[in-house]
Order: sequence, then C-alpha cells, then structure tokens
Amino acid sequence: MIKHLIRQEKFGGYWLVRNEGIAIELNHADYQFLSMLGLIYNTNSEDSELRWHVAIEEFTNQKLLSHMHQHGIDDIRSWSSVRHVPSNVALETLPDDVVIAPKRIYFEITRCCNLACQSCFNNSHFKLSNELTIEEILNVNQQAYELGVFEIRYTGGECTTVPGFADIVADARKKGIYISIGTNGVYSDEQIEWLPNCGIDWFVISLDGDRQRNDSIRGKGTFAKVINTLKVFSKYKNIRTRLNMVVAKHNMKSIETVASIAGEYGVSSLNLIPLRPYGRSLKKMTKEMFVQNDFYAFIREVNRLRKLFPEVVFSTTIDLLDPDATTSHDLIVQKKNTCAAGVEACVIGPKGHVYGCSYSPASFPDSADEEGKRIFIAGNIRENDLQTIWHDNSRWSVFRDLGQYKNSKCHSCSHYTVRCSGSCQIMAWNQLKHREAAERSKRNIGDFFDPYCFVDLLDEKDKMSDMSAPCGGAGMDGF
Ligand SMILES: C[S@@+](CC[C@H](N)C(=O)[O-])C[C@H]1O[C@@H](n2cnc3c(N)ncnc32)[C@H](O)[C@@H]1O
Ligand code: SF4
Ligand code: SF4
Repeated sequence: MIKHLIRQEKFGGYWLVRNEGIAIELNHADYQFLSMLGLIYNTNSEDSELRWHVAIEEFTNQKLLSHMHQHGIDDIRSWSSVRHVPSNVALETLPDDVVIAPKRIYFEITRCCNLACQSCFNNSHFKLSNELTIEEILNVNQQAYELGVFEIRYTGGECTTVPGFADIVADARKKGIYISIGTNGVYSDEQIEWLPNCGIDWFVISLDGDRQRNDSIRGKGTFAKVINTLKVFSKYKNIRTRLNMVVAKHNMKSIETVASIAGEYGVSSLNLIPLRPYGRSLKKMTKEMFVQNDFYAFIREVNRLRKLFPEVVFSTTIDLLDPDATTSHDLIVQKKNTCAAGVEACVIGPKGHVYGCSYSPASFPDSADEEGKRIFIAGNIRENDLQTIWHDNSRWSVFRDLGQYKNSKCHSCSHYTVRCSGSCQIMAWNQLKHREAAERSKRNIGDFFDPYCFVDLLDEKDKMSDMSAPCGGAGMDGF
C-alpha cells in the first residue's frame, strides 16, 4: 500500500504524505537524500540496513529527519510504502512556477447532477453527449499514477451519480493517489452508507448559507440533507471534510451560520468562493455579484469569523487581511505567484478537454466561443496524453506567461505573493469580452484589473496591519 510519494522537481522535489494529503517541499539535498534511501531499500542486499543507518547518521537536515520520524519512514522496513517518481523529461523546459506534473487534477467526470443549482457555473444537470467512458476515466487514473499526480478531485456535475464511481475510486486508491471529491452532499440512504467507506479521503461539500438561502439556490431540502451528511461523516475519523460556500451579496450574512456548522461537525476548512459569472449564474445571479466595496466588506467578515471560529481554517481569494499572510491555506497547492490553474493543477472535463480553470470558456467546449476556447483549452486526452499537454507551454500561455497576462499593477503591489497571487486572468478576459465592440483591438487581458480587487480602498487601519510576511490569491477557488 503506497503511503508516501517522492517526486522530483526542478527545485528538488516533493514528498506527499498520502494519508494526510500534505505535500512537503524538498530542496535538492533533501530530494537526493530520499532518493538515495530509496536506492538502498531497493538494493535489498545484506548490508542495506547498515548503509541505511550510515546515510541517516550523516544527513544533517534535522527537520526532515524529524518529519520522517513523525510520519514513520525513518526505518528501512517502512519503505515498502514509499514510491519514487523521478522526472523523465527535461526539467528546464518548464517556467519556474510550473511543476513537472499537476499536483491535483480536478476531474469533472460528468455533468449529470441530481440538483440544478441557480448558481451552477457549468450548467450541470443533464449528462452531456459523448462523456468519457469508465475505461477512459480509468486511463486518466493510470496516467495520473505514472506522472506522480498527488490528488485527483472527482467532481462534475455530481460525480457520485456516475455508475461505476466506486470502481473509479477503488482504482485510484490502489494506485496511492489521494482522493477527494467535490460533491453536493445530497445523498440517498444507500449512498450515505457506502460513500464514507469506499476510500475517499476528503469530501468537499457545498453549502451556500443557512437553510433559507441555501435552499433558494440549491433546491428545497438540500440544507437538511447536507447537515445529515455532515453528522454521519463526523463519526468517521479517517475522512476529512471541507465546506465550499459560493458567496455573493445574497448570502454574505449567513457565512457565520456556515462557519458555526463547520465548527459543530468537525469540518476542518471552509472555502469561500466568490461567485464567478458563468453558466446558470450568468443568467440568474449576476446582480448578486460583489463589487469592490462588497468584496472588502466580505474579507473583513472573513477575518472577524476567523477569530470567532479558530478551529476552522478559512480560505478565499485576495485575502488582504489574513493574519497568516499566505497565498494559500491548501496543503497541496501553494499559489505562490499565481493561482494553481495550469501551473500546479489542471481540470479534465467530461469530454476529455484539459484546461486550467473551470470558471472559463473551457467549460463549454461545444459553444460557439472559438476564441475563448482557443485561449483557455490546452488539449484533449482523447488526442494527446496528459504529459504531452502539460509540457507544451504554448498551450498554457494565459496561465504561465504572467508578465503578459497578469495586470501590471500586481507586479508592483506589496500584497502580491504575500497575501494575494494576483489578478484573475479569466475575470479580466470577461471584461475584455464584454467590452469587445469598443476595445477589443486595443486592449489585452493583462490590461484589465481584477474586478474584485479592493487594494485601493484599504483604510489606514488595515494598511497598518503586517503585510510583510510571506503567502491563494485570485482564481481557481478549489471547485
Ligand atoms: C460545479 S460544482 C460540482 C460539485 C458538486 N456538484 C457541488 O455542487 O459541490 C463545484 C463547486 O463549484 C461551486 N460553484 C457553482 N457555481 C459557481 C459559480 N457560479 N461561481 C463559483 N463557484 C460555483 C459549487 O458550489 C461547488 O462548490
Ligand atoms: S453546483 Fe454542483 S450540485 Fe449544483 S447543479 Fe452544479 S454540479 Fe449540481
Ligand atoms: S493589485 Fe493585484 S496583487 Fe495587489 S491586491 Fe490587487 S489583485 Fe492582488
């Protein structure tokens, strides 16, 4: 059973502690040391144990040694649970921020859904024609395994509605991949029995407010169903839960209710996703979207609630008041200079398209928006393998060429890489597109400012707070 993954990177590598879903960054010396231990273990000769002890004795990074001890891999016998994935490609071909393979794949295995939320950015409810088959899904699992992908987040639509979902999860589990699902938590009695026992490590469940506000968006009775799911899941000590709440003007006042539900049921984190204008939300909810002032008030509210609910980790974007001064509260993606899209993570859509972020025209491969699709879709796993797509920088310019596509104001902003990973390229694209007729020929994505950014409104008191410590910013909010 694989419990640890050591993966090579340009800067050294990563060590994934699978059962905890944590990726620890390794410098070159740390990575070389762990590779050497792997070699000693695999040699399996009479003096392996002795060589192992000498290597440990001579190694000077006490912090790594103590992590190894803490996670039980300081003994040669424990290394049957450690997998090593050295790079098989030229590392220097990737820009600095880009990892050798996605750390996390958001895998939208269907658009079928038992609900039809007003906000849904990808219009889910009915299955699309020609969705990936089970064999194709298992093939993605296999590619992810070979590349050393840390986590697959099955999502959709509602991934739990896919016939054969249990087999998909069991396959990924056997491969040592950390498994999370993005789910609405609205389950039948039968599902609530098997889901917590089928090998899923992390349930990311949607709840959009108190009973009245949630049900007005997600459907009557969904609040009660989610509460029941949380109650049942809280009894399982081996599964981790997160709540995803899509926030806008209509439900800002009920963030506190959701935070207290998180606290009550041992939910470890609450991810607050500002409403993104796509799919059904574009038709039904745009008037609810925050403007700058609302966003500032929202971030203040988040930071008030952080003090009230210290047991819950709050994450959101452009969190300029976060006392932890971090661009990411995620244990796998770091979002250092930009959000995770196309740099640390990717999405695979229900028809095999590979893209950086679901909140983009890439979510609608059958639409007539040819330019949106050209910019935001990097490829299709029915045409190329994932490694080929990931390593071709020309397919990912909008997410990797930050000099061109991030707003220039970010590059000189003191919050950039500290508490904010910069303007969202897709929100900028939306503005460009909406002003198409007047300005298209003269302006580019990078010229547009993130409409949620409130840095210019910060009052003196908030400016005084410590902004100097190191850093998720705008974009890819963890669907
Ligand atoms: C499309 S859903 C798929 C997973 C599952 N069906 C669910 O609802 O959680 C993924 C996430 O996107 C969020 N979401 C839906 N519409 C959104 C929008 N317009 N803007 C931002 N997030 C949205 C959902 O609340 C959910 O947390
Ligand atoms: S947000 Fe999730 S639950 Fe709601 S319709 Fe979309 S996919 Fe279904
Ligand atoms: S200017 Fe850019 S980096 Fe600074 S707060 Fe705004 S979006 Fe973030």
